[in-house]
Amino acid sequence: MSTRASDLTARLLQLRDAIRHHEERYYVHSDPEISDAEFDALLHELERLEAEHPDLVTPDSPTQRVAGHPTAGFTTVEHLTAMLSLDNAYSDDELRAFDERVRKAAATGEAPVAYVAELKIDGLSIALTYEDGCLVRGATRGDGSRGEDVTANVRTIRAIPLRLRGGPGGRVEVRGEVYLPRASFERANRERETADLPLFANPRNAAAGTMRNLDPALVARRGLSAFTYQLVGDATPERAHHADTLRALRDWGLPVESHWRRCEDIDAVIAFCGEWAAARRALAFDTDGVVVKVDDLIVRERLGSTAKFPRWATAFKFPAEQATTVLRQIAVNVGRTGAVTPYAVLAPVVLAGSTISMATLHNAEDIARKDLREGDRVLIEKGGDVIPKVVKPILPHAAGSAPWQMPTVCPACGSTLRRDDEEVVWRCESTTCPARLRRGLEHFASRTAMNIEGLGESLIDALVGRQLVTDVADLYRLTGEQLEQLVVAPRDPKSERARPRKLGKVGRNVAEQIERSKQNDLSRLVYALGIRHVGEKAASTLARQFRTMDRMLDAPVEILTSVPEIGPVVAAAIRAFADEPRNRRLVADLTAGGVNMVSRAPEPSREPGRLTGRTYVITGTLASMSREAATAALERLGARVSGSVSRKTTAVIAGEEAGSKLEKARQLGLETLDEQAFLALIMET
Ligand code: IVH
Repeated sequence: MSTRASDLTARLLQLRDAIRHHEERYYVHSDPEISDAEFDALLHELERLEAEHPDLVTPDSPTQRVAGHPTAGFTTVEHLTAMLSLDNAYSDDELRAFDERVRKAAATGEAPVAYVAELKIDGLSIALTYEDGCLVRGATRGDGSRGEDVTANVRTIRAIPLRLRGGPGGRVEVRGEVYLPRASFERANRERETADLPLFANPRNAAAGTMRNLDPALVARRGLSAFTYQLVGDATPERAHHADTLRALRDWGLPVESHWRRCEDIDAVIAFCGEWAAARRALAFDTDGVVVKVDDLIVRERLGSTAKFPRWATAFKFPAEQATTVLRQIAVNVGRTGAVTPYAVLAPVVLAGSTISMATLHNAEDIARKDLREGDRVLIEKGGDVIPKVVKPILPHAAGSAPWQMPTVCPACGSTLRRDDEEVVWRCESTTCPARLRRGLEHFASRTAMNIEGLGESLIDALVGRQLVTDVADLYRLTGEQLEQLVVAPRDPKSERARPRKLGKVGRNVAEQIERSKQNDLSRLVYALGIRHVGEKAASTLARQFRTMDRMLDAPVEILTSVPEIGPVVAAAIRAFADEPRNRRLVADLTAGGVNMVSRAPEPSREPGRLTGRTYVITGTLASMSREAATAALERLGARVSGSVSRKTTAVIAGEEAGSKLEKARQLGLETLDEQAFLALIMET
């Protein structure tokens, strides 16, 4: 290498190191050593040299933060281990109860357990992957096991180093929180106000919305920041405690929120929470609580996790904040099951750092009990993440006001609202109500259901409005061409892309997403159908047990309730759904549209059941259920079901018009069961 070339390489290295150092001082430690102008001079010199010698640009160069161009969408990525959520504690007593559970499970007896208390950052969780010290991936939490690849956006966040300083080799995953500092939030909202755009309700929404933006250059401008707090799979001799991890992350140049404290026992944790409930207002970012974590990583491993939360941590939520404002209107919303729920439209007011203009109202009874009236001044409350609620009116009532009355007809379709005797909820029972259809489609497309990305509110409005979609099966009749040509108006007329516009390429992507969703496992479809009382868990249990949609829909109540964890309410709801000819037609249409109707989940483990070791043959027609449903019921109890009668057959179950198999059973002297006896057998407890 010539002297000039080696001088150049040396200068590039020097500049990059210096810039990285000053970025860390500024963005991670909030403690700059040089002025902005001096920093800019270094950056400009590097940019100039790299522009002259493009072959010498490296991906981890500080100039390469905004390397990506706007993209059409994010790809989905799998997390190394599930990104769990945290259980909550709302009082000192609940913190003590958490400590009791920890000490019991960790078997420390009377000895106190030490914790690390950290501020809970109100942002969105992020998983950063470094390979040999270089940032290679940033992903959102998503559904916990799969998230979105937002690497291009993550690279623009200056607090996140593109290269670790002296970090470990190989592949490591660091987790943390991306957030929008209050100052950036306020600046963003000032800009939006000037541009006549709707304001962000709070920094968390603004951060989440920004991370989902497809243009990294815009993300870079917004001023996101980040804190890290976890190293996946970390319990090594040099890092036996969480406090060691936090120090290591910081040593590698990663941002760690500095106010964390090691607490010798739960009393010290409670004191920390008390201090920050008041002091948090002075911070540069929003925090909604304190995360309390067992410090000893070996004890953590012993404690393990439930399906949702680690047992070694909890989130203490700061007490609810309250404000007063005017209740302008009590409006109603129609949900996918037809439930009509009232909500409060409020005069905008700032509460816990967010501008609030709506609040939940549970039901008509609750409104009557509190005697909330339109025009009243009301006390509202916001606790943690929940949507604010109206606590009570501030008396006297507004002059000339009258008690609120629930509407008698659906605001969307005009049909009469009804409710069952024991129910508090009023419902629109029209199966063609456009509001219900919209909500049903939103649910069908949602992430935990069929996961059709891009099929959002405004697109659904356009599809329903033009009657291109009258039920969920119609989605599978749409063509890419139709979606490309579709003109969509944004829900909020003030939104960033205010004018109605052709979907174009976005439409093509949605068509691809719809196509992809055909391959979803049966459990997603069962959940997506929105059968009353059938949540994600029940849907997955049902799909695993019955294996096909038809088997599930054909199963009589007795069989449905014989499934572990399926109770009479869910069973009755499935029967009611299946007995409605409209729904059967819908399933047939979905099948014709190419949607998968089969479970690919592993069969439920065949633990020895009451009928293990026995073999049955079913013959003739059963009046109460299909052959498949009867087979499933027997198999669930451990029995084998065979197609032919032999000496090994335990018994033959004979329905109407049983023929040669029953004959053969008699010849062999085998036991035979009629339908009554069969039902008694499977329902025996
Ligand atoms: S630890 C196993 N520490 O809060 C979960 N989470 O409500 C480990 N969060 O999903 C999370 N600040 O996104 C942890 N200091 C902190 C946090 C924090 C904010 C978020 C995180 C998590 C959510 C749970």
